[in-house]
Amino acid sequence: MSSDIRITPSILNADLDHLDSEIAKIASVSDFIHLDVMDNVFVPNFTFDFDRASEIIAACPIGIDAHLMVANVDTIAPLYAQAGSASVTIHAEATEDIARTLRAIRKAGARSGLAIKPNTSIDSYASFADDVDMFLIMTVEPGFGGQSFMTNMMSKVAATKKIIGDRPIWLQVDGGISLETIELAVEAGADTFVAGSAVFRASDPAQMVVSLRELATRVAN
Ligand code: DX5
Ligand code: ZN
Repeated sequence: MSSDIRITPSILNADLDHLDSEIAKIASVSDFIHLDVMDNVFVPNFTFDFDRASEIIAACPIGIDAHLMVANVDTIAPLYAQAGSASVTIHAEATEDIARTLRAIRKAGARSGLAIKPNTSIDSYASFADDVDMFLIMTVEPGFGGQSFMTNMMSKVAATKKIIGDRPIWLQVDGGISLETIELAVEAGADTFVAGSAVFRASDPAQMVVSLRELATRVAN
């Protein structure tokens, strides 16, 4: 998959007991699989520990986009890269030393991502752009799939796009992305889209990924 638009389905709302077959439904039409790691500390929900996440990363037929919603993320983040993730995203709110951790992720062979929650401003993080391969602007409060897209985050997406300028940094949005909302996010400047419930609650998940990509590509061009 190579295009300026990337669709990264989240398996948070997939059938976790049959993950291989759930991923198989969408792998050939997706850029990455988005893996939401939650520790019940940074967010009020738990998904996978590192061992289970490593198994998923190892078994996945396409690259994993790991989104770490865990406290004290600095030590564990490079391990997700070493485990074979294509991309590892940390939350600015959960790290002691953003630059050091982003560099450690890259050194371990993955793309580095920096995420911020809805109440966090992007302004203080512009200075990390040289160490970032992807900014993630959350368009819901992290913790659960199936929440409503926060339209008021679009000004933050636009501000982040400005910070990125000509740099080859991807701009991801996560939360509430669907055929109804993706257009707004593209217009604000996003190019990388997480979609969980829109994909896995669709009667044809692969077709939904294709439709999201087509719509986003049309709006972007
Ligand atoms: C929320 C997660 C999202 C979520 C997206 O904390 O980071 O990735 O699974 O799911 P939807 O698309 O249903 O909002
Ligand atoms: Zn996520």
